[in-house]
Amino acid sequence: MPKFNFLVPFRSGNDRLINAQAVMEKTMDSRIQDVLDIYHAMIETEHNSPRKLPPGGRDGGQDQRLRAVGPATGQFINILAKSLKSPTILELGTSFGYSGIWLAEAARASGGRLITMEMHDYKSAHARDMAVKAGLAEYVEFKVGDAVQMIGALCSGIDFVLVDLWKDLYVPCLDAFYPKLNPSAIIVADNMLRPGGDDLKRYGQAVRAKPGISSVLLPVGSGLEVSRFD
Ligand SMILES: C[S@@+](CC[C@H](N)C(=O)[O-])C[C@H]1O[C@@H](n2cnc3c(N)ncnc32)[C@H](O)[C@@H]1O
Repeated sequence: MPKFNFLVPFRSGNDRLINAQAVMEKTMDSRIQDVLDIYHAMIETEHNSPRKLPPGGRDGGQDQRLRAVGPATGQFINILAKSLKSPTILELGTSFGYSGIWLAEAARASGGRLITMEMHDYKSAHARDMAVKAGLAEYVEFKVGDAVQMIGALCSGIDFVLVDLWKDLYVPCLDAFYPKLNPSAIIVADNMLRPGGDDLKRYGQAVRAKPGISSVLLPVGSGLEVSRFD
C-alpha cells in the first residue's frame, strides 16, 4: 500500500523529492524509476539555479526549463488517472516530458492512452526520447502545435486532463475540451496557488461555472484545482 505522504504541502523541494522517491520505489518498474531519477536531478538543478530568460524569451526556441509539476503532483495524477478504466488522457503542456511519464505509466496500467500537446518540437522530441527510455512510448501520442487548436481537432471521449501550459490559455483550453469530456472525467489544473494570479483565478471560476462540474482546490505541489464532470 503506498504511503500518501506526498500530500504534505509546501515542504522544501528536497523533502518532496525524498518522500515521493520512497513511495515510487514500491510502485514503478526500474526503467521508469531510472528516467524519473534523471528528471529529479534536473528539477533539483533547476530549483537551485537563478531564473534567467533565454534569448528570445520563453517562446524563442531556446527555453530549456522543465517547469515540471514535481513529484507530489506527478504521484497524485498517476494515482487519479490509474483509477480510471482505459482512460483517454489529455496533457496540455508536454514540456520535456516529466508529467507525461507519470501519465503514461497510468495509461499503461489502466489500459488507456495519453495524448500530450506541446507547441515546441524540440521539447516534444525530448519527451518522446524519455518515454522510449522508460518503455512507455507506445502508450503516448505526441502532438506538436497550439493546444487550443489541436483540442478542436480531437474526437470526444476524454477521461482525464492535465492543464499545465501558459496560464492565459487555461480558460480557452477548458472551453475547447469541456464539450469533449466523458461522464466522470477528471480535470487537474496545476499552479493554482504558485504562481497563482488572475489567469488562474479566472480558470477556477470558469471551471466551477461549467454545468456538471464539482471542483476542489488542493494544496498539493503548486496547488491543484481538481474537477470532476458528471
Ligand atoms: C509548465 S510547462 C509543462 C510542464 C510539464 N507538464 C511537466 O510537468 O513536465 C508548460 C509548457 O506548455 C507549453 N505551451 C505553452 N503554450 C502552449 C500552447 N499554446 N500549445 C501547446 N503547448 C504550449 C510550453 O512550451 C511549455 O513547455
